[in-house]
Amino acid sequence: MQKITTLTALFLLVILFQFCSKTGSGLVSTKAATPIISFTTYNYLDTYPAHVQEALAASDNMPSSNPITNAGANLGRVLFYDKQLSRNGTTSCSSCHQQQNSFSDSAALSSGLDGGATSRHSMSLLNIRFYKTGKMFWDERAASVEKQALQPIQNHVEMDLTLALLESKVKSIPYYSPLFQKAFGTTLIDSNLIASALAQFERSIVTYQSKYDRVKQGLETFTSAEAAGEQLFLTVPANRTCASCHTPPMFITSSPSARFGLADTNDIGINNRNNFKSGSLRNISVRSNLFHNGSVANVQAMLTAGNPGTGKQAIPLHFLRTADIANMMAFLSTLTDRTILTEPKFSDPFALQ
Ligand code: HEC
Ligand code: HEC
Repeated sequence: MQKITTLTALFLLVILFQFCSKTGSGLVSTKAATPIISFTTYNYLDTYPAHVQEALAASDNMPSSNPITNAGANLGRVLFYDKQLSRNGTTSCSSCHQQQNSFSDSAALSSGLDGGATSRHSMSLLNIRFYKTGKMFWDERAASVEKQALQPIQNHVEMDLTLALLESKVKSIPYYSPLFQKAFGTTLIDSNLIASALAQFERSIVTYQSKYDRVKQGLETFTSAEAAGEQLFLTVPANRTCASCHTPPMFITSSPSARFGLADTNDIGINNRNNFKSGSLRNISVRSNLFHNGSVANVQAMLTAGNPGTGKQAIPLHFLRTADIANMMAFLSTLTDRTILTEPKFSDPFALQ
């Protein structure tokens, strides 16, 4: 009930705000009359199960200068979903990193603010905190999560703002001042603080509530197909197992410089060698258009390519004997965490449903 009242109030404030700015009425010029939208605050400081906590201890890319706080991640959530962070007010981070699609895009390539297509497939943002070097993008060209965050905002196809414009926009939006005050103890808004808040929110997006996690905690057991799939993942082929590149338990590449290339004459990848990193394989069974160019329809298509009768060239190291495919699919499905797809703290704070 209280939630509904808050939402109704929020809705009225938004209408009032738009009405005032549209009519240019004197109302907005007085600061006191400017409505301040209050967003729900959530807890982002989860306690992870031991196997996830261990992985975090070994590979966390969170710098001591920007630890996750609830106020920081809460501000990051608002920024992440705010379309006003684009030149024409149509595009936010969430336009291409959609919660229901594991913070990726179901389309092979995404549309930017004027409808132009991105040159690569949108990466899932699940578990990016566990990529030890912190280097972001398929070709690792951003040095950290913080540095990455300002790039789509300035990218001409994606959101297309200069940092100066970004700062003046955010400063002029009334709900930000109190959110920055809470998060960073200052209302002196700049692009570094914007990047820090976005990074805090993104690093909090961690999956640890899948069947795989319950099995690792001894709360459930794998079916025989799932167990056989896990064995394949850990042992086949002997000289280059799936796990050697997609390290459990977060299944994020540990060594993208290992020799692996999806044949692609248009994209040179890391160090011009056609190498790419891969994000976490968690939730891979509910994602589509995989790999850096979105050219692989789904996991089944990946594992099948190269088998007689498919007519498709095999992707190096990414296909299996027909007899093994069902087991691998069963195992990969255990990595799906459905809670993350709808969890309110990762959802759109501007949505008024
Ligand atoms: C128009 C679509 C679009 C928008 C808007 C967008 N992204 Fe992305 N994002 C992508 C694409 C495409 C990639 C992969 C690009 C590449 O590797 O060259 C990507 C990659 C990333 C990565 C790298 C993940 C990894 O594991 O390396 C992060 C982090 C990210 N985006 C965060 C954001 C944030 C934060 C925003 C908003 C400030 C945002 N994105 C806005 C499409 C978009
Ligand atoms: C030599 C390292 C290596 C091995 C071995 C390997 N992978 Fe990969 N995998 C990668 C890299 C790198 C990418 C991203 C490449 C790209 O986009 O061009 C990738 C991409 C993927 C993707 C798509 C991820 C996405 O976000 O789109 C899946 C699924 C996958 N691998 C599963 C597997 C499975 C299952 C195996 C074992 C049968 C395996 N991989 C073996 C390195 C490897």
